Amino acid sequence: MRDILTVTLNPALDLATEVDRIIPDMKLRCAPAQLDPGGGGINVSRAIAILGGASRTFVVLGGHNGDHMAKLMTEAGLNLIVHPARGETRSSLSVYDSTTHEQFRFMLPGPEWSELDVAAVTASVSYAAQPGGLAVISGSIPPGVPMSIPIDLARSMAARGVDVVVDTSGPALRIAGAATDKLIHVLRMNHNEANDLAGRKLRDLYDSADFAQGLVAQGAARIVIVARDHEGSVLATDGLRLHAPAADVVVKSKVGAGDTFVGAFTMSLAMGEDLASALTRGVAGASAAVMTDATRLCRREDAERLMAECQARPI
Ligand SMILES: Nc1ncnc2c1ncn2[C@@H]1O[C@H](COP(=O)(O)OP(=O)(O)O)[C@@H](O)[C@H]1O
Ligand SMILES: [Mg+2]
Repeated sequence: MRDILTVTLNPALDLATEVDRIIPDMKLRCAPAQLDPGGGGINVSRAIAILGGASRTFVVLGGHNGDHMAKLMTEAGLNLIVHPARGETRSSLSVYDSTTHEQFRFMLPGPEWSELDVAAVTASVSYAAQPGGLAVISGSIPPGVPMSIPIDLARSMAARGVDVVVDTSGPALRIAGAATDKLIHVLRMNHNEANDLAGRKLRDLYDSADFAQGLVAQGAARIVIVARDHEGSVLATDGLRLHAPAADVVVKSKVGAGDTFVGAFTMSLAMGEDLASALTRGVAGASAAVMTDATRLCRREDAERLMAECQARPI
């Protein structure tokens, strides 16, 4: 099995609670908080652990929240590589209104990074990555950090023989998507992110596959994956186009489904499976993830059972 390193630059201590009704000017008595470590790469590592694999979790942590998160992640069985942050790791709060069934999510910004912080973290990520292994860059980018950070990290890791998987959005995706040097091994995005990057609405599976293959031809990445919600995902390389259909499941919560896709897909690559198997595992993982509520990523037995429904085929 190849080594997998996940990278989370802007983690958050997620607090989730519930209240009868959210109304202004009142003290709202909440249910006891559930605390979870949050952040793209952390979720990818959690998904890999649920699916029976192993990864190393590089995470930038600071202050009391950072200590608390490290404890929670270690208890969850993750192999942490902690880079000490200057400030306090941020927290986020989600409050469920049990009368209206609405969920309110409050995300605080993380501490601002200096240029020195960026250089130090870039060096320690590259040092932590194992030549011949895989690295996953996922999650939001801290204040002060250039939006080119996914591609900058990919450049320094690619130079060490590491295959880098990038799942990002917004300006960082636009920068990664404009690259021409094939430094990124896998560039993955959801339907909205792909529309954003394309500057138009991708109509159907074929349109998404054409778009993905265009990005490969331009040199943005060697492999491009575009998710299409309940239609599953398409994957393109230079000479290959695949589609894996999502399983027909009842959707409870989509929180973390993309990270579960990335975890299952990357784990399959690390086991030496081919791209069709990896795409099948990714889509089955995401389908399993939408079946569970927001507090858990997925169940291994669902992800394994749903693979039969999510078989990848050429498109
Ligand atoms: N109804 C559904 N059934 C199965 N899979 C779904 C459904 N809706 C969305 N998905 C999958 O869930 C994933 C969501 O990815 P993304 O939007 O990146 O999630 P995240 O919130 O983790 O960033 C995609 O792979 C998508 O295809
Ligand atoms: Mg996503």
